[in-house]
Amino acid sequence: MAPMTRSRADTDAKVPTNDLHGLYYEQRASAGLIITEGSQVSERAVGYINTPGIYTDAQVEGWKQVTKRVHDKGGTIFIQLWHVGRMSHPDFHNGELPLSASGINPNSQSYTPEGFKDTVAPKEMTLDDIKTTIKDFQNAAANAVKAGFDGVEIHSSNGYLFQQFFNGTSNKRTDQYGGTLENRARFFFEVLDAMKEVIPQEKIGVRFNPSLHGIFGMTMDEDTIPTFEYIIKKLNDYNLAYVHLSEPFTDVSEIPYAVPEIAKHFRPLYHGTLMINSNFDQDKGNKIIEEGYADLVAYGKPYVSNPDLVERFENHLDLADWNQDTFYTTGGKGYTDYPKASEH
Ligand SMILES: Cc1cc2nc3c(=O)[nH]c(=O)nc-3n(C[C@H](O)[C@H](O)[C@H](O)COP(=O)(O)O)c2cc1C
Repeated sequence: MAPMTRSRADTDAKVPTNDLHGLYYEQRASAGLIITEGSQVSERAVGYINTPGIYTDAQVEGWKQVTKRVHDKGGTIFIQLWHVGRMSHPDFHNGELPLSASGINPNSQSYTPEGFKDTVAPKEMTLDDIKTTIKDFQNAAANAVKAGFDGVEIHSSNGYLFQQFFNGTSNKRTDQYGGTLENRARFFFEVLDAMKEVIPQEKIGVRFNPSLHGIFGMTMDEDTIPTFEYIIKKLNDYNLAYVHLSEPFTDVSEIPYAVPEIAKHFRPLYHGTLMINSNFDQDKGNKIIEEGYADLVAYGKPYVSNPDLVERFENHLDLADWNQDTFYTTGGKGYTDYPKASEH
């Protein structure tokens, strides 16, 4: 099950609840692996309303209930660790600017407590800000262990903080965190190295969306794919749970620097477990694994409306449609009320 923000942590404390989060993830426990919604590693990492965190004791206690319910059903659950960087808005930070690699506005929109607002030019992170953020990820990973998670996934995807460092249009730094591809990847590897001090690296997954273009504030350039090639090859030196890649979210056939088939391009470069995502159905998923381009397929939206997706695939049952209008609303409607096929 792919990570999906569902915005049900609607208290100031941003704590996942037993009634909503516990039930939702328990219903989906037959997934081979659940990767939770993005969960912020600090107050500064927040960029959307009602998203849960993993930096306070109350949040850890909330997640404990979730992991227990999934484990009681025989499931496995990783938490996705998230920092949105410049995709946030000063309204989330008492008027202070969001943080990023450089002070460049993504010219996007942020969903604030008062609705959509234009993003702003963020604050370029100082070396101290970088150190603090590395510690925040390490602390979040340690909290994930305390909360009973089987592992963590670094959200280094979809135009958020790490991708803002990787990309040359959002990272104009002239210090050791900018310029060369090695430098633009440095912050990510420092976070990974700090995290593996508190959780075995076999329990860490990482997520990338290399051909992300024209959305989430990202613009590809000639360095974009070489940067991901460098990162993914370097990850062979680690023994991670998996590398999780997304096929392009938009049609990139006309984009000169983009790779249109991500699994095919990156599979030969990575020797560990490769997970692929985006727009797969059962047949496409089986096919890409049979062809040897991926080891695992992550399903997102089908899991919104089919808590028993595994059983439906297994028995070739019809899938229920998801309702986009309730992706990010409050309460159980459109969240915990999708029945299993056996309950119809
Ligand atoms: C409602 C919703 C919320 C999402 N939230 C996240 C998220 O928190 N973290 C993340 O990495 N991707 C997120 N995604 C992207 C999904 O993980 C996945 O990449 C995308 O839905 C495409 O896969 P699919 O075609 O199987 O749905 C989200 C997608 C949806 C539909």
